Amino acid sequence: MTDVPSVVDRLDDLVRLDTGELDRRIFSDQEIFDLEMKNIFGRAWLFLCHDTQIPKRGDFFEAPMGSDNVLVVRQRDGSIRAFLNTCSHRGNAVCRAEEGNVRNFMCTYHGWTFGLDGELVGVPGKSIFYKDKLDLSKHPLRKVAQLDTYRGFVFATFDETAPPLEEYLGATGRLGLDLIAERGDMVAVPGVQKFTVQTNWKFTVDNVFDYYHPQITHMSAFSVGLIPAPPDDFVEGGAKSDTGANLEVPFLPTDLHNFVVVGEYGHAISGPDQESLEVSAGPEPFAWRHKPEVEERLGRHGGRVAGHPHIFPTTWVTTNAQLSLRVPRSPDVTEIWWFSFRDRNASQEEQAASLDSQIHFFGPAGMLEQEDGENWAQSTLQTKGLQSREVPQLLKMGLGTSEVVKEDGLAFMDAPINEHAQLWTYHAWREWLRNPSWEELRERTIPRDRY
Ligand code: FES
Ligand SMILES: [Fe+2]
Repeated sequence: MTDVPSVVDRLDDLVRLDTGELDRRIFSDQEIFDLEMKNIFGRAWLFLCHDTQIPKRGDFFEAPMGSDNVLVVRQRDGSIRAFLNTCSHRGNAVCRAEEGNVRNFMCTYHGWTFGLDGELVGVPGKSIFYKDKLDLSKHPLRKVAQLDTYRGFVFATFDETAPPLEEYLGATGRLGLDLIAERGDMVAVPGVQKFTVQTNWKFTVDNVFDYYHPQITHMSAFSVGLIPAPPDDFVEGGAKSDTGANLEVPFLPTDLHNFVVVGEYGHAISGPDQESLEVSAGPEPFAWRHKPEVEERLGRHGGRVAGHPHIFPTTWVTTNAQLSLRVPRSPDVTEIWWFSFRDRNASQEEQAASLDSQIHFFGPAGMLEQEDGENWAQSTLQTKGLQSREVPQLLKMGLGTSEVVKEDGLAFMDAPINEHAQLWTYHAWREWLRNPSWEELRERTIPRDRY
């Protein structure tokens, strides 16, 4: 009997960087999903919440970390800790609320009670039933290995050997978060919007870089003016047959200049550069950047970003002061979580207008992601057919045509609409799955000179 090669042995065939082809199995295979949970989500720094969501002692927020859920808790001394939301007795969740304020966490099964620091502080019948033989200090809630914040964004990792958060984020990831933090005195809007899509999490991730789809997928958003249509001279007819017949596919912004940043560990930024987006959207969305101190802090290249930063594996920063977590729950179920931010010093009218725009773009009431979700669900479904799954998926746009420039800690490309960042994400994904040392992983995700 011949041995079936393990997934790790097949990785080079599953993601083909030279041809820009993906094997569809990566979107539906349970073995791959399990490996992702272990080798990616079990090691990476993962976004949990924003500092301002838990301002007071005893405030907590429940966040996903791979296949686990953790409670992020403000401590008595103002610091933040995170531990698994599972009782050290028989495993019940010690907290059923998604967020709130507590003095301690009492498990509703048998009443074991844990302090804000996760230590076991009370056991019913400790003397009568346990005869004082239970050592409470041995049964705290299991803590994350490391927790840190960057400009108010709270991250944690289960890997005690992971590099420090700032190093993990690198210039690319930090810039992504700076693009929210630099907008003002930013606080999280209460309530995280959540919904579920029947899709593999990777579709929801690579789509953040996909500026090829909006004109088709989001046609309705253009037609009602949610997205301003580019001026007439900026567009040309869509697909034509090889005899030149107009196939009546809507316009495409053919000369939308894109700015793509690729970073170590798989972080990336992709989408239009600010100048080209200002042509269609006008200067107003970027007004906050045109202050000397903000321009200086974002740097000469950071200030050009008008696309989408993404922190590997699942944290997306929008241009509208929002952050989205893509939460894998199974190979074909992904939760989408939306965190919105407001500038505490902006006028009430400005804050209301910002929130209105945030709600109507993304999230359960947003036009865009409901449309995206339909595509992702279908793309996921079509990875399962015995015949369909043999057809590779393609990320070939711009392949091999872009020079990488390395300046100010960033590696970037200037190019027309392309699929570089998507392919970069899958390159990093593949290297993460091999489970190399942190040093090797960093080495393997240092951008080359051309893509
Ligand atoms: S499972 Fe929590 S107290 Fe028993
Ligand atoms: Fe979309």
